[in-house]
Amino acid sequence: MAAVAVAAALLATASTAMADDIDGCTSYHTYIGSRTDCLNASLTEVPRPLPRDLHILDLSHNNISTLSNTSLSHQPPLSSLEMLILDYNGITFVHRDAFRHLTLLRAVYLRGNRITQLHRLTFFHNLRLQELFLSENPLVLPSNRGFLSVRLLLVLHMDGCNITHIPPSAFSETVRLRALVLANNQISSLDERPFAPIPFLMFLNLSNNALQTVPRDALSTLQNLIRLDLQDNRLQNIEVEALASLEGLRRLELDGNPLKCDCQLKPFRLWAQNRSLAASATCVNKKSWDTLLNLQC
Ligand SMILES: *[C@@H]1O[C@H](CO)[C@@H](O)[C@H](O)[C@H]1NC(C)=O
Ligand SMILES: *[C@@H]1O[C@H](CO)[C@@H](O)[C@H](O)[C@H]1NC(C)=O
Ligand SMILES: *[C@@H]1O[C@H](CO)[C@@H](O)[C@H](O)[C@H]1NC(C)=O
Ligand SMILES: *[C@@H]1O[C@H](CO)[C@@H](O)[C@H](O)[C@H]1NC(C)=O
Ligand SMILES: *[C@@H]1O[C@H](CO)[C@@H](O)[C@H](O)[C@H]1NC(C)=O
Ligand SMILES: *[C@@H]1O[C@H](CO)[C@@H](O)[C@H](O)[C@H]1NC(C)=O
Repeated sequence: MAAVAVAAALLATASTAMADDIDGCTSYHTYIGSRTDCLNASLTEVPRPLPRDLHILDLSHNNISTLSNTSLSHQPPLSSLEMLILDYNGITFVHRDAFRHLTLLRAVYLRGNRITQLHRLTFFHNLRLQELFLSENPLVLPSNRGFLSVRLLLVLHMDGCNITHIPPSAFSETVRLRALVLANNQISSLDERPFAPIPFLMFLNLSNNALQTVPRDALSTLQNLIRLDLQDNRLQNIEVEALASLEGLRRLELDGNPLKCDCQLKPFRLWAQNRSLAASATCVNKKSWDTLLNLQC
């Protein structure tokens, strides 16, 4: 008994349990600050009160279907919150001011919800927001304006959103983006210069889409791109001109495409070799990506 009590006391000190624990939630200190986890707790609203000085709030796997303008306006305010996780809640509606007062937010996770639209200014006031996860939502991108206005956003995840087309100004108000994940969508073609507004992009993931070609002018604006993932598309060929202006490109994934490693593709293979581009690819015909270099044409 005594041993159990001592162990329990040690555990309590180690995790520094807080007095204001909420039903279904646990609060503790981590090396980056205080954290409250309320996973899978059948919550239909953001619980309150929440601990003061909360840095991380994980509300994944609940039933919070709506985020209104008061859902996150706690007293005292959640003014230390840096990371907010709302994955898998069946969220359908997000009020444009839902996050307005969370001025220190750095990362927001909204994966696996049912969000179709977000007001353009939803994160406008979150000047520290660097990373946004919108994966697995049936997003509808507006055709004639920026999707979201987030001045300093660096990383945007929009994979698994059933996106079929990237409108020309989709990224016109997230101009600092460094990484963009558009994997697992149904993008079948790229317009001219859809990424022109985000010239600082270093990482682009377009894997598992339905691209049949990479048009010459589709990616040409991405002068800072280092890594491009085009795995699992429908590319049969790729032209040197499509990637020639990407001076910084170091790595290219092409596996899972029906590439025909023949004389038509050889110039691209030579170009990749000459550029020391780390490229991986598989061919549908009997040749291989490597023997393509020696193919007599
Ligand atoms: C949520 O809880 C239920 C019942 O305890 C469990 O069956 C389910 O696997 C849990 N889901 C998650 C995502 O943790
Ligand atoms: C939460 O949602 C799940 C799945 O949509 C449902 O089975 C469950 O009954 C809901 N729980 C509550 C408390 O509403
Ligand atoms: C919340 O939004 C509603 C409607 O959008 C508005 O009438 C109300 O004044 C807002 N409340 C706050 C606290 O901003
Ligand atoms: C995307 O479409 C598929 C097939 O219609 C559907 O099963 C899936 O749930 C959709 N994804 C989202 C995030 O809505
Ligand atoms: C691109 O996204 C897919 C799907 O999420 C992932 O499996 C793959 O590893 C990503 N590519 C890179 C280079 O990280
Ligand atoms: C290889 O690169 C050099 C300069 O970097 C260039 O002069 C040459 O034409 C290139 N060869 C091919 C086959 O692209």
